[in-house]
Amino acid sequence: MTADPDLDALFAAAKAAQQRAYAPYSRFKVGAAILADDGAVYPGCNVENAAYPVGACAEAGAISAMIAGGARAIRAILVLGDGAELVTPCGACRQRIREFAAPETPIAIAGSEGIRARFSLAELLPASFGPANLPT
Ligand code: THU
Repeated sequence: MTADPDLDALFAAAKAAQQRAYAPYSRFKVGAAILADDGAVYPGCNVENAAYPVGACAEAGAISAMIAGGARAIRAILVLGDGAELVTPCGACRQRIREFAAPETPIAIAGSEGIRARFSLAELLPASFGPANLPT
């Protein structure tokens, strides 16, 4: 675990969600958890589909849970997956996170043993396009 109580809560939520993931095709289960602006933790897991491209990432599920729960901003997000490599969010999920986060919002990457790395959103998605880029 970590010394950061916020990340500890996110780690526990993401690990529980990972165990519930539906990943019969890749067999690669991912859990995610968001600490939102309402102080609540919203988990998500990947949900695959026999029509492969229809599958959804864990981060997308956590964002949907956050919005459905009434929160509107990501204070921190943690993504957890197994294997030797860092399970960083895919490009599409970086953009999904971007919609509800600030450049400095932390994105923690974990394996089952604990936190492996920590990035800011700006590090993973520099010079990004967001809501403020659209004309009002
Ligand atoms: N996956 C996620 O859910 N999040 C990530 O950050 C990386 C990949 C899922 C998608 C798919 O169900 C499986 O992991 C293998 O790519």
